[in-house]
This record gives sequence, structure tokens and C-alpha cells, in this order.
Amino acid sequence: MGTIKKEVIIAGSSGHLKVIIDIFEKENKYKILGLLDPNKNIGEKVLGYEVIGRDEDLPNLLLGKDRCEIFVAIGDNWLRQRIVNKLIAISPNIDFASTIHPSAQIGKDVQVGKGVAIMAGSIINSNTVIGDFTIINTKASIDHDCVMLKFSSLAPNATTGGNVIIGEYSALSISATVKHGVSIGKHTVIGAGALLMKNCGDNLIMYGVPAKEIRKREIRDKYL
Ligand SMILES: CC(C)(COP(=O)(O)OP(=O)(O)OC[C@H]1O[C@@H](n2cnc3c(N)ncnc32)[C@H](O)[C@@H]1OP(=O)(O)O)[C@@H](O)C(=O)NCCC(=O)NCCS
Repeated sequence: MGTIKKEVIIAGSSGHLKVIIDIFEKENKYKILGLLDPNKNIGEKVLGYEVIGRDEDLPNLLLGKDRCEIFVAIGDNWLRQRIVNKLIAISPNIDFASTIHPSAQIGKDVQVGKGVAIMAGSIINSNTVIGDFTIINTKASIDHDCVMLKFSSLAPNATTGGNVIIGEYSALSISATVKHGVSIGKHTVIGAGALLMKNCGDNLIMYGVPAKEIRKREIRDKYL
């Protein structure tokens, strides 16, 4: 007899939502009940799954469903936090699912928080902490003893050495590399292809080889 799957409703839109649907399907731990996609009409489908409501409909959609969790599929770190908090305000008792692609390699004693997406081909080495609502994108690699704080993200092919700390809401862009032992502050963006060799602070755009501070950014600025 197979185990009874948990259920998930996925909130999101755009390409990131499509990738998340694929990971949930491949992982096969949750049954996707439907989508909350503000850019589509109710009943419209994305990759075969129907839009079943708006954020405000969540309490009704969850009535009588004690095994149903929520996943927020939004790539922008700040916007993801806003939607997570909006959904908690609408439905205070919701649980958030995490999803891990079966091709990801997860090392020993790795801790994975809630609301996390770990995508195809990514590698997380031993004793690393993956905070709540973070994204480890396709083929990204984070080495041993690292900490990704909540709502931070790695874009495709981003790479860190060991003992790296990535601050809340900070993003490593596509193919960015961070030397071992380096700490990154909050709300900072390390640009595409950058090589970060030294610690950096909060609210910065850094890029180049080696990466330099290009300018400051505001917390609500667009990410990538
Ligand atoms: C860092 C970033 C967020 C914004 O940088 P920005 O300074 O606002 O970039 P702009 O588009 O205004 O470009 C300004 C100049 O800097 C250059 N530049 C921008 N990002 C750069 C980078 N990462 N490395 C080197 N040069 C860069 C641009 O080519 C442009 O040069 P030009 O003036 O000679 O044409 C962005 O460029 C970046 O790296 N994005 C990553 C995208 C990504 O990872 N996508 C994956 C999503 S899953």
C-alpha cells in the first residue's frame, strides 16, 4: 500500500512557477491541488494545473483539508516575503511545504527549512543550513558549513565555497562565485558571473572579477 500523499496549493506566476510545478511532480511527495496565480483567470491552467482562486480565497480552499500545505513560487526575494506574510495574515495556521528535485545532492546533516525550493542538479554539502523560503536554483552549489538565511537565493550555477554566510534576502546571480569563508550582508545582490573574494555588507550591488561595490540598493529594488 502506498503512503497517502500530502497536498499542496502553489501560489505564484511566471517561469518560476513552472519550474516549481515540475519539482513537486518529480519529487512525488505532494499532490498539487491547484494554483493561486493573480495573473490568470480562475480555471485557466498552467502545465495542467488549474488556477483555483486568489490569495483571499485561501481560507475557503483549505476548509476541511488538514493535510494541505502552501508553497510560494515567486523568484524575487522581497516579493516572496510579502506574499508569504500576506498568506499568513489571511490564513494564520497554514504550513509551508519545501520541495527538493530528486537529482539534487544533499549532504550529511544539512538542515532545510520550510518554503524552500531546491532545484535540479544542485549540490548542498554537509552541515549547511538552508533557511526558510530560500531558493537553490538549477545546478547551484553550496559547500559545507554554509548558512543561507531566510529569503535568500542562489541563481542557476551560482557556487560557494565552505563556511559562507548569505544574509537575509540576498541573492547570488547566475554563475556568481563566492570564495570560502566569505559573509554577505542582508539585501545584497552579487551580480552575474561575479567572483566575490571578501566579506560585503547590506544593501549593495556587487559585481566583477573580483567583485567590487557598484552601488547601494534599496530593500524593495528589483533583484536580478
Ligand atoms: C547586477 C545586476 C542585478 C544589475 O546590474 P546593473 O548595474 O543594474 O546593470 P545594468 O543593466 O544597468 O548594466 C549597467 C552596465 O553594467 C554591466 N553589468 C551589469 N551586470 C554586470 C555583471 N554582473 N558583471 C559585469 N558587468 C555587468 C552592463 O553590461 C552594463 O554595461 P554597459 O554600460 O557597458 O552596457 C544584473 O546586471 C545582474 O547581474 N543580473 C543577474 C541576472 C540573473 O542572475 N538572472 C538569473 C535569474 S534566475
